[in-house]
Amino acid sequence: MPLLDLSVNGQSRKVEADDNETLLSVLRNRLDLTGAKYGCGEAQCGACAVLMDGELALSCVTPAAGAAGRKIVTIEGLAKRGNLHPVQQAFLDSAAFQCGYCTPGMILAAVALLHSKPKPSEAETKDALDGHICRCGAYPRIVEAVRMASARMPR
Ligand code: FES
Ligand code: FES
Repeated sequence: MPLLDLSVNGQSRKVEADDNETLLSVLRNRLDLTGAKYGCGEAQCGACAVLMDGELALSCVTPAAGAAGRKIVTIEGLAKRGNLHPVQQAFLDSAAFQCGYCTPGMILAAVALLHSKPKPSEAETKDALDGHICRCGAYPRIVEAVRMASARMPR
């Protein structure tokens, strides 16, 4: 079984993985980082989203071997020194979730969006979240949370 050298949430992690194992499987089953969720397993729902080198990546279809040498950030790595990321705080303040299953992927999609476009329009926000399914129908509050985070974050 190959030994992979991954950078996850600022830490170097050496982990064994099967040849065809996905990044999602390695994160959840080998590194015990269960924030990224298994939804569809085929790039259709966004529940498994993580950041790779600052860009959104769907870990259910990302080979773990392909993540070696990239900087991976999961929802567990967003808070710094006990302080929630502004997007996390805005989701809390907007009550932008119900069951929470889609929330890690939604938050990381919002982080990636605000990194590339600090003041997105509502249409741009909806477009960025388009591949993310919320079965609880919290979309209006999720869009509001992104607007709130955008207003609070320094340009
Ligand atoms: S579980 Fe990866 S996109 Fe649905
Ligand atoms: S809060 Fe339940 S799926 Fe989005």
